[in-house]
Amino acid sequence: MKGPLLKFAVAGAALFSLVLFFLLPRYTVTTSYVPSIISSSKSATAIPNIAHFVYILSNTSDTFDFAFSHYLSIFAASYYWNPTTIYFHTNADAASRASARDGTSGKWTQLIFNTPNLIIHSVEAPTHAGNGHELQGMEHRSDFVRVQAVHDVGGVYIDWDVHALRDLKPLRESGFSAVAGKQIEEQINSGTFLSRPESKMMRLWVQGMNEAYTGGWTTHSNAVLTQIGRKLVAEPGEMLVLERDAFAPWSWNGDDCARLFSPHQEEPSNLEGVRQGDLLPEVEAGTYDEWTTLEETSDFPRDWSNTYLLHAFDPYRFGNHIEGFDKITPRYVLERRSNFARAVYPVAKEMYDRGLVSIDEE
Ligand SMILES: *[C@@H]1O[C@H](CO)[C@@H](O)[C@H](O)[C@H]1NC(C)=O
Repeated sequence: MKGPLLKFAVAGAALFSLVLFFLLPRYTVTTSYVPSIISSSKSATAIPNIAHFVYILSNTSDTFDFAFSHYLSIFAASYYWNPTTIYFHTNADAASRASARDGTSGKWTQLIFNTPNLIIHSVEAPTHAGNGHELQGMEHRSDFVRVQAVHDVGGVYIDWDVHALRDLKPLRESGFSAVAGKQIEEQINSGTFLSRPESKMMRLWVQGMNEAYTGGWTTHSNAVLTQIGRKLVAEPGEMLVLERDAFAPWSWNGDDCARLFSPHQEEPSNLEGVRQGDLLPEVEAGTYDEWTTLEETSDFPRDWSNTYLLHAFDPYRFGNHIEGFDKITPRYVLERRSNFARAVYPVAKEMYDRGLVSIDEE
């Protein structure tokens, strides 16, 4: 082929593969990133609108066992953020992923695997930190996977017990290279963070966690990130550290769990007189005017106006018992009798309206 014709053919092939890329089925498995396409965003300084979820199995042939609460978490991210890509990083083998897709691993797992724009990204679970220490437990392996993923492609990472209450676009487009938030006792929480690819925060964290790892529960995660936050704020535009209410307003302590999850039996149920298939009441998200009429110190209903991400630590994981609350079910959320239920109600209602959940399933 002559020069111009060759160029034309090459351009045609490039265009063809680009078109192919967008025509691929919604569910894709990939073992390597395609950063040039996924990280292109409107503004060069914005944090890309990519979401990251991580689930590391202790045995790669184990099956997934997701609950309704996990689906709530990923659905909210999809609903409020409309990410260009949602990465699901996992070490699950092909059989495990197949049983997740075909429903053998339960309804919630299947729905999670059908999330729009989801890409399953195969990872090998790391076994050792850079300092030679063996990583303890799946949680710590997941910690290393999440930090590397956001370092490499940028975007937003949240744990499965984190619930988006609104869009993060203002934070992604704030001009900061990375954003993190505080939790109880002024520590920066590592269960929620967002960053441009290879930001200074992410580079320091990848390095710091590999050096600091001891097996301590949050030595390499919250502690390292908190240290980075203290220093990096001094470098213009590198890192925005948000107040506690932004990402992790309450904690895993018994009192906080009770304030979040306790159903208020004196409240009328939002499902009063509602049968499966009926329309659910429309509830306006708290507006400024609505909340200014409330006592500021009111524990219930909680004003969630200044919360972007609700890190809802599982009370049972931390040994707290809550009267009248067992686990997060569609009915529990749709009744709107607790602060948690009120926070995530719009998302559960959307699922119900789309016929994805019914009131009395678990
Ligand atoms: C993983 O699970 C499979 C099936 O239960 C089992 O055959 C295999 O030995 C397990 N692998 C490891 C490394 O434990």
